[in-house]
Amino acid sequence: MIDLSDQQPFASGDNRHCYRHPNIPDRCLKIIRPENIEARYQRQATPKKLLGKSRLNDNKQELAAHRQNAILALINQGHESTVWRHLPKFYGETATSLGPANESELLFDVNGNPAQTLELYLTQHGFDARINAAAERLCEWLGSTGILTRNLLPHNLVISQRDNQPELVLVDGLGAPPVPSGLSIIPAWRRRYINRRILRFYKRIEWETGSKEKSWGESQRL
Ligand SMILES: Nc1ncnc2c1ncn2[C@@H]1O[C@H](COP(=O)(O)OP(=O)(O)OP(=O)(O)O)[C@@H](O)[C@H]1O
Ligand SMILES: [Mg+2]
Repeated sequence: MIDLSDQQPFASGDNRHCYRHPNIPDRCLKIIRPENIEARYQRQATPKKLLGKSRLNDNKQELAAHRQNAILALINQGHESTVWRHLPKFYGETATSLGPANESELLFDVNGNPAQTLELYLTQHGFDARINAAAERLCEWLGSTGILTRNLLPHNLVISQRDNQPELVLVDGLGAPPVPSGLSIIPAWRRRYINRRILRFYKRIEWETGSKEKSWGESQRL
């Protein structure tokens, strides 16, 4: 078991703390913040509560998301490197002193620090040509691989230098919400689902770089 007792997270989201792996410097260990699962659980209406807490566990969802058809097919066909072009390499679940962690590739910026999020980049530089081109490459990859993601949020994408160019890498939000059985293998459904994620991604970038007078929720309803 990996001992994290004297470590501090290098970053945290609402649902998970992210630690550097103490023995493998380019790996990241993500640990659930149980207090937030409990809070999300309590906010749900009673019928949803019956579905239990494990569906709110982002680590479990992420493990399942890596078993989606599009990823397994690419790996089986010998195209694993295509999968990891815009995702951190994923190593599954690992036991730590703080509980089970999801272990994945830690992404760095050009200076060797943990990579910056797209959200922070947009506040500093706006949606400039370099990152616009990186966003286009990400969207092309989504369309050509058929890999399903939830909404693409700028704080869940980091900018990492790969093959001498900046790439957007999705560190959180892989997978799709449960859909009626079989739908996700119908190519037309997948194309429509992915196109909607892409449209929303650009809308979100517009919102992030705009005045933010309206909340994101309100501006989506327009
Ligand atoms: N593989 C990685 N390489 C570099 N930085 C990362 C990596 N994974 C996560 N991070 C950083 O840690 C932050 C939190 O990680 P993550 O989004 O997985 O947590 P979360 O709690 O699931 O997020 P949310 O609040 O969106 O639910 C990210 O926004 C990013 O800044
Ligand atoms: Mg996140």
